[in-house]
Amino acid sequence: MVQEMNTIIEPVIKVNGELEFKGDKSISHRAVLFSAMAEGDSVIKNLSHSEDVFSSLKCLNQLGINHKFENDQLTVSGKGIFGFTKSNSPLDSGNSGTTARLLSGILAMQKFDSEIVGDESLSRRPMKRITEPLEMMGAKFESNENITLPLKILPSNSLRPINYKLPVASAQIKSAVLLAGLHLDEKTSVIELLPSRDHTERMLELNGIEVDGGIQVFSSKKDYPKAHKYIVPGDISSAAFFIILCLLKNDSELRIKNILLNEGRTGFIEILQAMGAVFKFENFKICSNEFTGDLIVKSFNLKNIVVPKEKIPSIIDEIPILAVAGIFAEGDFEIRNCKELRVKETDRISSLCMNFKEAGLKVTEFEDGFRLEGSVTNTSPKYNSFGDHRIAMAFAILGALTTGCEIENFECAKISNPEFILQLNSITE
Ligand code: S3P
Repeated sequence: MVQEMNTIIEPVIKVNGELEFKGDKSISHRAVLFSAMAEGDSVIKNLSHSEDVFSSLKCLNQLGINHKFENDQLTVSGKGIFGFTKSNSPLDSGNSGTTARLLSGILAMQKFDSEIVGDESLSRRPMKRITEPLEMMGAKFESNENITLPLKILPSNSLRPINYKLPVASAQIKSAVLLAGLHLDEKTSVIELLPSRDHTERMLELNGIEVDGGIQVFSSKKDYPKAHKYIVPGDISSAAFFIILCLLKNDSELRIKNILLNEGRTGFIEILQAMGAVFKFENFKICSNEFTGDLIVKSFNLKNIVVPKEKIPSIIDEIPILAVAGIFAEGDFEIRNCKELRVKETDRISSLCMNFKEAGLKVTEFEDGFRLEGSVTNTSPKYNSFGDHRIAMAFAILGALTTGCEIENFECAKISNPEFILQLNSITE
C-alpha cells in the first residue's frame, strides 16, 4: 500500500489484477500535431493525460489551433498547410523534448517567427541535433552558444529538401526533419543507421508515405496530414514499471489491456524474455496503424544478460526500470552503449547511479552506462527523483519491491503518468 501525501512508498506483498493505460505519450504527441496540421476536425480517443502532451496542446493553442475534450475524446480543429498563426508569446514546451523538437520542424517552415522555451531541465537539453539538419534545409534559428532553449525560429525564403543520415538513433530528430519536409514540394528523406521508434512514419503512412526497405523514409507536401480519427493504444512505457513489479513479486499476476505492442517500443519485453520471463499475449488488434493487444504477466526468476547495442534505441526510456529488474536477477547488471541517457530529462546515468548508491549497491559508472553489484541493504532509503518522471517511478517500484522508501519530489511522475500511485494501489496488497 502507498500513502500519497508524503510520497512514502510501502513494501508490496503481491501484485494482482488488471490495468488499462491512457494513450501512449509518443503517439499522442504526434496525433495532436498531425490533427493540428490537417484541415478540419480530427478526433483522438484515449489521448495521453501526461503533462508533456498537454504542453503540445498548449503550444498549438498559441498557434491558433483550438481543441475541445468531450466524453474523454479530444477534437482538434486543424487549419491545413500554413494555417498556423504567429503566437504573440513564447511557446512553452514545459518538460517535453518531443514538443520542442517536433514543433521546431514544423515552425521552421512557416512564414512567421516563433520562440520555443522550456523548463529548467528542457533548457539544458541539446537542440543542435535538430537545428543542424533544419539549417541544412535553409531554416533560420537564433539561440545561445550551446544551442539550447530558448530557440528563436525565423522565417526563411530559401527552404529546400535534404537527404539526411541520422547521426544518432533518435525519433525526435527523424520526426523534426520529416515534419519539416511535409512543407516542401520535393521529397525530403531520412536514413537511419539503427531504427528508432517509427510512430511518425506510421502516421504518415495513413496519408500515403513512402518507405524504402524500412531504412529510408520520405516526406513531401503530397503526404500532408488529413483529418483522421485516431485511437491511441495504451502507453507501454508507463506499463513497463508495473510489468517489472509483477515479474519480480512472487505469486503475482497482472493483465495489461490494449497496450501498444510496436516492436520499436517493446525492446524491454524482448530483453526480459531473454532474461527468463514468459509473457502471454491476447486480443491482438491494429489501431490507427499501430499494433496493440493484452499482455499477461506472471512472476519469474530472471538472469542478467548482455544487452546488445542495437537494442538500445528500443529500450532507451525503459533503462531505469530495467536496471531495477537487474538488481533482482541472477548475476550483476551492466548496461553500456547508452550515452544518450545523459541528455534525457536528467543525466539518467548519473541520477540512477546516485540512487542505487543510496540503496546500498556497489555502483560503477561509465561514460556510456553503469554496473550494479550486490543487493539493496538500506532499509529506509530516501531516493531523489531529480525532477525526472522515469527516475521517480523506477525508484518507487524499487521501494515497493524492498522495504519501502521515501521519494523526494515524486509529483514529476505526472510528466508521463499522473495515475501512477492510483494504479499501484489498485493492483497491490
Ligand atoms: C521520443 C523519442 C525518444 C524518447 C522520448 C520520446 C519520441 O527520444 O526517449 O521519450 O516521442 O519521439 P529520442 O528521439 O531523443 O531518442
